Amino acid sequence: MSHFRIVVLLSGKGSNLQAIIDQVSVGDIKAEIIAVISNRPDVMGLQRAEKAGIPNHVLEHTHFASREAFDQSLAQIIDSYEPDLIVLAGFMRILSDVFVEKFQGKLINIHPSLLPKYKGLHTHKQALENRDNEHGATVHFVIPELDTGKNIIQGIVPVKADDTEESLAKRVHKVEHIIYPKAIQWIIEADTKQLSKPSTFYLDK
Ligand code: GRF
Repeated sequence: MSHFRIVVLLSGKGSNLQAIIDQVSVGDIKAEIIAVISNRPDVMGLQRAEKAGIPNHVLEHTHFASREAFDQSLAQIIDSYEPDLIVLAGFMRILSDVFVEKFQGKLINIHPSLLPKYKGLHTHKQALENRDNEHGATVHFVIPELDTGKNIIQGIVPVKADDTEESLAKRVHKVEHIIYPKAIQWIIEADTKQLSKPSTFYLDK
């Protein structure tokens, strides 16, 4: 069994979690997912964790008086697992500076745009409205400033003339499932060549 320990945080569907689970199971990610934590109950991401036999927790942010109080409890659960890497996979909460600084360097996120373009929400809509030819996703280290931090890899997809937000989102998801596992394995291997300059991956369909 691998010694590299990953905790995944999510809020929803968990298709990125599934991509990571699948790559762990075939040995392309040499690590163990030791816990999944969701801030929402009853989401598909938790079912995926359960099915894969991964310990999972629900920590509902609505039960906390402040962002800081929620983050403190979240940090406590994470600390109890002593992870090497914390993977944000559709975790739809802004994390406090204290939390981010505590875990900085081992906290990564995937964002559905070619950062620095389109930080925040509604990225597919903006790419369509701006008639971009290309769109995609970025895996990056998390720093207190939202959707900033050093890029590790970007996955680029074409934007097609007849795309809707849904069709474009689907294509971006497909490339996310390729680049997130890659980025994680580079971190596990401490592949300084890959990590020192951001890489690009094109998904041409
Ligand atoms: C992805 O589009 C990711 O870029 C964003 O949230 C979405 C998560 O999707 N941060 P899923 O829950 O992994 O299916």
